[in-house]
Amino acid sequence: MTQHLAAPAAPTTGTHTGWWRDAVIYQVYPRSFADGNGDGMGDLEGVRSRLPYLKELGVDAVWLSPFYASPQADAGYDVADYRAIDPMFGTLHDADAMIREAHALGLRIIVDLVPNHCSDRHDWFRQALREGSGSRLRERFHFRPGKGENGELPPNDWESIFGGPAWTRVADGEWYLHLFAPEQPDFNWEHPAVQDEFRSILRFWLDLGADGFRVDVAHGLVKAPGLPDIGAKDQLKLLGNDVMPFFDQDGVHEIYRSWRRILDEYEGERVLVAEAWTPTVERTARYVRPDEMHQAFNFQYLTADWDAASLREVIDGSLAAMRPVGAPTTWVLSNHDVTRHVTRFANPAGLGTQLREQGDPELGLRRARAATLLMLALPGSAYVYQGEELGLPDVTDLPDEVRQDPSFFRAAGQDGFRDGCRVPIPWSGTEAPYGFGTGGSWLPQPASWAGLSVAAQTGDPDSTLELYRAALRLRRAHPELGAGDAVEWLDAPEGVLAFRRGGFVCTANTTGTPVRIPAPGTVLLASTPPTDGTLAADSTVWWQV
Ligand code: NOJ
Repeated sequence: MTQHLAAPAAPTTGTHTGWWRDAVIYQVYPRSFADGNGDGMGDLEGVRSRLPYLKELGVDAVWLSPFYASPQADAGYDVADYRAIDPMFGTLHDADAMIREAHALGLRIIVDLVPNHCSDRHDWFRQALREGSGSRLRERFHFRPGKGENGELPPNDWESIFGGPAWTRVADGEWYLHLFAPEQPDFNWEHPAVQDEFRSILRFWLDLGADGFRVDVAHGLVKAPGLPDIGAKDQLKLLGNDVMPFFDQDGVHEIYRSWRRILDEYEGERVLVAEAWTPTVERTARYVRPDEMHQAFNFQYLTADWDAASLREVIDGSLAAMRPVGAPTTWVLSNHDVTRHVTRFANPAGLGTQLREQGDPELGLRRARAATLLMLALPGSAYVYQGEELGLPDVTDLPDEVRQDPSFFRAAGQDGFRDGCRVPIPWSGTEAPYGFGTGGSWLPQPASWAGLSVAAQTGDPDSTLELYRAALRLRRAHPELGAGDAVEWLDAPEGVLAFRRGGFVCTANTTGTPVRIPAPGTVLLASTPPTDGTLAADSTVWWQV
């Protein structure tokens, strides 16, 4: 293992630019981005070959979902070795080269850190199983005797996020906790060895040149003392509203303070980004206090309907919650865990984030384009999920036999449709795999994607790809679009949002009908152009005033 590679220089070192405050960060889902070795699965070589595309798109940084050694029980979120690359994705040299090449292009690289749980094939867990009940090595996880006469019942009533009990019994009769799949045992974060190990893992990737970490299940590491029962069924439904004994416990914050101290030792403004699902934005803001993380995903925004009143409430609420802690607000519309927003917006509101229907794709795309321009005019940092710049819909009709999402199987096919947003993206050509690679694609791509490829959209001014490129170009040329921590709202008819950002005004008509307004300036960019002072249905316009 090459642990001694010299750290490549980050795009800017030495100075504090606060680059992350208004950065546009592109999420690469490595297995579905680009396949360099022709095995039908994306890899780091593929990512390297497409870095110039990302540079040209105009993003500031790339966050990659996990590419570490893993049996892939949860697409790499089950890590067997945090310091090794899975052979399916390449080698540590590929990771090193990817970071260097990204830096040479002025792009930053954020890697995914999975500290809540590992894989059941991780050395520590295998040793813990071998050593047997009562062993010290089991203390790094949550092993407990069962309840009932013969210990045949789980130690408490917690349910796994992927369905079923959060406990699995091992051969000698003890049970271990896994908030996700049984192949993902939870670490015991009270244990000093766990804490030390993750500090060392952080340094490993920082030394390699990583610009930061997206922290998986950041809200889950610490469990309430005594692992108390919840006393209710269908716990998934409670997650959005209540503080659970396994999520958002106050103890997590001390961990992030210690991590922040490590990051601050390094040059180049390395960052921590929380994946923290909490009941309120105010609780999320606690993860980004000045001595903790830099950013947290804004899931309230991701789950907001395409509706002016709801959007305004979330925007105001998010900005107000972050302002006191001085962290930038972030905005996100899609990621690898939810139905792509083209398809969410194509369906009636309120159906959640795991959809099986295409709805009205034309409506979905129109709203998605409008939602993007709205997002990119807001102060703070924005996340773009691979393929959304192509206007990709979710693939809702994947046959059950190709699905891999563990939650689909744990929920007996009633939930867990995350494969639909993970289908490899189309780059060129008229037939699958559309330039993704030379060896097919691990999930089938729809025949309709030929017209959505990067090559098909490049140069077409009406394409979604060119809309993203233009928006990111303008955002770069006019930093006031992403700067600050407030928007100045302007009066607007019902269903329309209008706000000023420096020398610009952004209007978003979230209604399905055209709306007349006095033009606030000249049109700079539009998801659907206005005509004669009339905003098109479901459209966003950037005006120069
Ligand atoms: C959140 C990740 O985004 C998701 O893909 C994964 O299944 C869970 N955490 C468990 O690691």
